[in-house]
Amino acid sequence: MLKVGLLGVGRIGGVHARTIAAHPGSALVAISDAIAENAETLAAQHGAAVRSSEDIIADSAIDAVLIATPTDTHSALIEAATAAGKAVLCEKPVDLSLPRARACQTAAAATGQPVMVGFNRRFDPNFGAMKAALDAGEIGKAELLSITSFDPAPPPVAYIEVSGGLFRDMMIHDFDMATFFMGAAPVAVSAFGSSLVDPAIGAAGDVDTAVATLTYADGRLAVIKNSRRAAFGYDQRVELLGSGGLLQAGNMLENSVVKSTAAGVTGAKPMHFFLERYMAAYEAEWAAFVEAVKGGTPVPITLDDGVLALAMADAATQSVQAGQPVLLADILSA
Ligand SMILES: NC(=O)c1ccc[n+]([C@@H]2O[C@H](COP(=O)([O-])OP(=O)(O)OC[C@H]3O[C@@H](n4cnc5c(N)ncnc54)[C@H](O)[C@@H]3O)[C@@H](O)[C@H]2O)c1
Repeated sequence: MLKVGLLGVGRIGGVHARTIAAHPGSALVAISDAIAENAETLAAQHGAAVRSSEDIIADSAIDAVLIATPTDTHSALIEAATAAGKAVLCEKPVDLSLPRARACQTAAAATGQPVMVGFNRRFDPNFGAMKAALDAGEIGKAELLSITSFDPAPPPVAYIEVSGGLFRDMMIHDFDMATFFMGAAPVAVSAFGSSLVDPAIGAAGDVDTAVATLTYADGRLAVIKNSRRAAFGYDQRVELLGSGGLLQAGNMLENSVVKSTAAGVTGAKPMHFFLERYMAAYEAEWAAFVEAVKGGTPVPITLDDGVLALAMADAATQSVQAGQPVLLADILSA
């Protein structure tokens, strides 16, 4: 039984608490939160202790930690936990600063402890089935990837101000999906962004609507579209054109009822947001982590993947500012 400490129980930490406790191979033994009361109800529900993050990391009886604290704490907690001999699953992104994330990557690697980054979309059953079909050669070589990722509504501006911007906070998931499907890092990133949803987001120096184009060394292409607003709910679709066919994953709907009347044909909206749409993915993500740690096999998403996605986000941010494509090599050598 993997004994697990959960650090941070806000929006996503609450999901992870249930997932850790529900898995037959892991036990949720301790929970921390900067505001201890946030942890108390969940801890009582799962028979876990409320402790500080430092205490949990220092406890040699705890095998692994799941880090679901705000992004600016991730690198330091990964470093402390791996130095204390713990396996780590950390929420995305690794950090808001690429140099800081790379320092964390080096420090964690030196400990030999496994660190997995929480790019949960790789575990979505639909996207996973697409990847399995691609890997089985069913559409030939992946040539043109198109990702649509629209949130139902923007977060508060206070969140935007500390988020690192749309590319590091939101599109980072899609950058990782691009790596997942294209199987390589792009050579260059071109991005355009606007503030169309909320002028306050623009005033805070961020964009809420963006497009990024990724170009690969062999000429293959990926296009990612993000918006912080979709009036009909959470829009998460992927289309992959290969040399021998096409794979598409559409939205998961609130129900499968289709109403056909003289007025037309209508169906349900997409599942509202990430907590609904990706619940199965969070469970599969945790199961993959437990399997790798217990089996002594490599975790499926590493700090290298986390650093790559962050570098792509930095390239996109710089591309919007510069109005021209940015080479990933320039970002990584800066
Ligand atoms: N993979 C996903 O789908 C997904 C979804 C949402 C958020 N996230 C990521 O998860 C992280 C948390 O996001 P959130 O929306 O849950 O934030 P949140 O603000 O709702 O929750 C963070 C919690 O951490 C606590 N905290 C702060 N510092 C702490 C520390 N040192 N030790 C213990 N607890 C501490 C806070 O009190 C808060 O309760 C972010 O990095 C975010 O990018 C990922």
